[in-house]
Order: sequence, then structure tokens, then C-alpha cells
Amino acid sequence: MVSPIGLFDSGVGGLTVLREVRGLLPEVDLVYLADQAWAPYGERTLTTLRTRATAIAQWFVHQGVSLVVVACNTASGAALHELRALFPAVTFVGMEPAVKPAAETSTTGVVGVLATSGTLNASLYADVVERHADGVVIIERPGVGLVDLVEAGDLDSTVPLLRKYLEPMLAAGADRIVLGCTHYPFLINHIAELVPADVVIVDPAPAVARQVATMAPDAMGSGATLLMTTGSLDTFTEQLARLGLLGPGTQVGATDLAQNASDLP
Ligand code: DGL
Repeated sequence: MVSPIGLFDSGVGGLTVLREVRGLLPEVDLVYLADQAWAPYGERTLTTLRTRATAIAQWFVHQGVSLVVVACNTASGAALHELRALFPAVTFVGMEPAVKPAAETSTTGVVGVLATSGTLNASLYADVVERHADGVVIIERPGVGLVDLVEAGDLDSTVPLLRKYLEPMLAAGADRIVLGCTHYPFLINHIAELVPADVVIVDPAPAVARQVATMAPDAMGSGATLLMTTGSLDTFTEQLARLGLLGPGTQVGATDLAQNASDLP
């Protein structure tokens, strides 16, 4: 039996990564965990994020998963190093804001980055900017409130917030807008309406999916998708239906991770 690939996020955001992975690996089995009991992650402390990420990784190990995609920029920034150290037998693929491709292709030399406060404050992000944004002006804005609205399925209510966050980026001449949170690709149409047509919106999910496909070239299974939440199963099921993510071969469930609370490393 080939082990499934695991992915997790604070909520539905990481499903923007899952759908890319599914597109490249139609036969692999996927297990997704939305940690909605603890969402949003964006304003949480490093300690909390690391504790949650560790509990989730342990849960994936119990499911027989050996490749975990941390489909969340905030959790990647907070916990990727720790996860790799604590679970050496597991391969972790993380997210980082796509500053590199944006900086390389920008013609104005100005790049906007929209991400959670947690991601923007993490050393992972500082490293990315230092390594890849030499000579490029980066205008960052924390997307406060956006994740809650995406979780609530109230995408239209994000428009005033998006306008406020994008305005300084556009005023400075940004021609690339990096989506530094996996919830934001659900807002891509709303963002596109607020920026000039020649501004490119950069979503790292396709590149992350290609990386996953490289790491699991022979992954085979039955193409099953199991979507789990630590929150309310009813709410999660409604969200998935609204986002059009409940296809054939997809099962939905809930877990509180309690079975693993006592055996964390
Ligand atoms: N989707 C997440 C990210 O990529 C988490 C956002 C949140 O829960 O605040 O950062």
C-alpha cells in the first residue's frame, strides 16, 4: 500500500493547494486536515502554532502519512524547522510567499505582499526577502480579517479590506501582488477587479504542487480524498459544498486530535 499525502491548514485555505496537487497527481490518496478549532492562525503565538503543527503531524503519522504539505504560510513560517527536526522520517513541504518569482519578473521593481501578520513577522519571510528581493521594493500588508471572511464564505465582504490593503501597493507602482496566505486564492477574482489589468497576481500553489509531484513521482492510490476538520463537521461540509470541493471520491469527517494529546514528542 502506498501512503497517502497529507496536507493541513487552519481552515479551507490549504484546499487551494490540494486542488493543484490533485490536478498533478490524480491517483494519489490525499488526507487534508483543516484545524478550524484553532483558526485563524494569523494572530496566534509561535508557541501555539508549533504545538498545533506538532499535534497535527503526529496525527498524520498515525494515518500512515509520510509526506506532509504544510499548506499554510503562517504554520510554515512558525513551525517548519521544528517539524523537520521532530519527525525525521516524514518529508515536509512548506509554503513561503512567492517573493522570488515576483521579484524576478517585476518590471517596475515594486512587489506587493499580502499575508497574515504571523507570516510577515516570521524569520522565514525575512529570509526570503533578504535572499530574493535585492534591489526590489517590497510593500507588505497584513490581510487582517480576510481569513475569517473566507472561512465564513462571505467573499464579497472582503472588497473594502482588499481595497485598503492593495491601495498602498498600487500607489507605489507594484506590478506583482504576492498572495502570501493560502486562503487568498479564493479571492483572486475580487483582487483582479481591484488592480489594473497588467498587474500579475502571484499564487505559489501551482509551484508547491509541482514540488510535491517531484517528491512523490510514483505515488499511486485510488485517487481518494479525505477532508477532515477539528471544528464543526456540519459547517465544514457546508463550506466545501459552497466552494465546489465536494466531488465524487471525496469523504468528509471530523477529529479533535485528542487521541494523540498524550503522545506528542
Ligand atoms: N491559510 C493560512 C496561511 O496560509 C492561515 C491563515 C490564518 O489562519 O490566519 O497563512
